[in-house]
Amino acid sequence: MVKYFNIIQALCRSALINPNEAISHQINRLKDSLEKDGYAQEAKSLEGLLSSSQASLEMSPSKIQKSFVIASGEVLTAKTPVPVDKETSTPLAEIFFPNDLPNDMPIFNENIQLAIQSIVNEWMKFDRLLEINATPASSCLIYGIPGTGKTHLAKWIAKQIGLPVVLARLEGLMSSFLGTTSRNIGNLFAFANKYKCVLLLDEFDAIAKLRNDPQEVGEVKRVVNTLLQSLDSRHEKGFTIGVTNHESLLDPAIWRRFDIQIEIPRPSSEVMAHLLKKFLIPLEFNESEIKFLAWCLEGSSGADAEMLSKWLKRAFVLEKESNIITVMKQFALLNSGRINASKRNVMLHSDEDFIATLLNDKTCSFKQKDIASIFGMTPSSLSKQMSKFKDSEKN
Ligand SMILES: Nc1ncnc2c1ncn2[C@@H]1O[C@H](COP(=O)(O)OP(=O)(O)OP(=O)(O)O)[C@@H](O)[C@H]1O
Ligand SMILES: [Mg+2]
Repeated sequence: MVKYFNIIQALCRSALINPNEAISHQINRLKDSLEKDGYAQEAKSLEGLLSSSQASLEMSPSKIQKSFVIASGEVLTAKTPVPVDKETSTPLAEIFFPNDLPNDMPIFNENIQLAIQSIVNEWMKFDRLLEINATPASSCLIYGIPGTGKTHLAKWIAKQIGLPVVLARLEGLMSSFLGTTSRNIGNLFAFANKYKCVLLLDEFDAIAKLRNDPQEVGEVKRVVNTLLQSLDSRHEKGFTIGVTNHESLLDPAIWRRFDIQIEIPRPSSEVMAHLLKKFLIPLEFNESEIKFLAWCLEGSSGADAEMLSKWLKRAFVLEKESNIITVMKQFALLNSGRINASKRNVMLHSDEDFIATLLNDKTCSFKQKDIASIFGMTPSSLSKQMSKFKDSEKN
């Protein structure tokens, strides 16, 4: 026990970065048991961790308290009944409490990250802004291509402001019984307006898809109108976040309802490298390997990077001698939609072509020794192979 106490202490310290009642309770239990068994010093050090976590909670502006200021209504609990579609009994929303929401901010380029942080800061100082009659933004539309972290971002924002999320998938709300869609939307917003929460409208484009159905023009107009009125009804009730992949399909009147609009782009090569490092934990790859993987994923999304990382983890855990090139080629072969077509062709053609393309890539400027190590060769055997290849090309 004492032998592992350093690790236990580190675990407790990490857990207390985002403390909650359950964590504090368990650490308290451990402290009491240690005390009882005569480990006074160890118990004391856990007590110290608990009291400094409590002190920092008291000193920092409490997010939970803030949430009482920035959203009106009753408190949502796990027992609060969620509204359902009257015909099918399908729930109209899913509730995520702050403990279920992600702690880590998604990784974007610095500009976007700073812009997002500034909105979140504004929201966390909501009461101060209200005091001087400044109305802070209370709705935000997040859009961009699939798999770039939009839903993750929306949930992270809610976590920052310390409110539960009422997650509505419009696709679900609008299925089959078109006639009841307006009623469902009305019920959903009435529910969100009643409680302190962030209303998250994911896959917001579903409404636009409906508009393309010429047989339903009248009904769709009604649905769009209901949605517009419902969005207006959210003002001064709480935050609303819309997420969509197809922003161009959204009605301009809906666009205008959102105070802030954030476009999430495809990850740049730096962002991709960052994402890969994060998703690959606990595996460690060196900088040239990460740069190489990011090169292979140029134009792909963060979700693709997560998927590739899972492949690499599986391969390297099951087979210690796995080779990054073999895994990458397998991934390219079996995930054709996740890899840019020209990169895929280069990878799957021949190693000579693959190496030559990497060496000639002006933006990444790979070093010969790095490529040699990735391909499991010595730099001199790589040069020999490349000169043989050049000779055969000349002949
Ligand atoms: N920039 C990013 N930072 C951190 N994680 C990311 C990022 N992009 C994607 N991911 C991860 O990829 C997965 C998919 O992300 P998410 O569902 O948020 O994407 P999305 O943009 O909402 O996709 P879709 O448009 O398909 O709904 C999640 O596990 C998420 O954590
Ligand atoms: Mg999403």
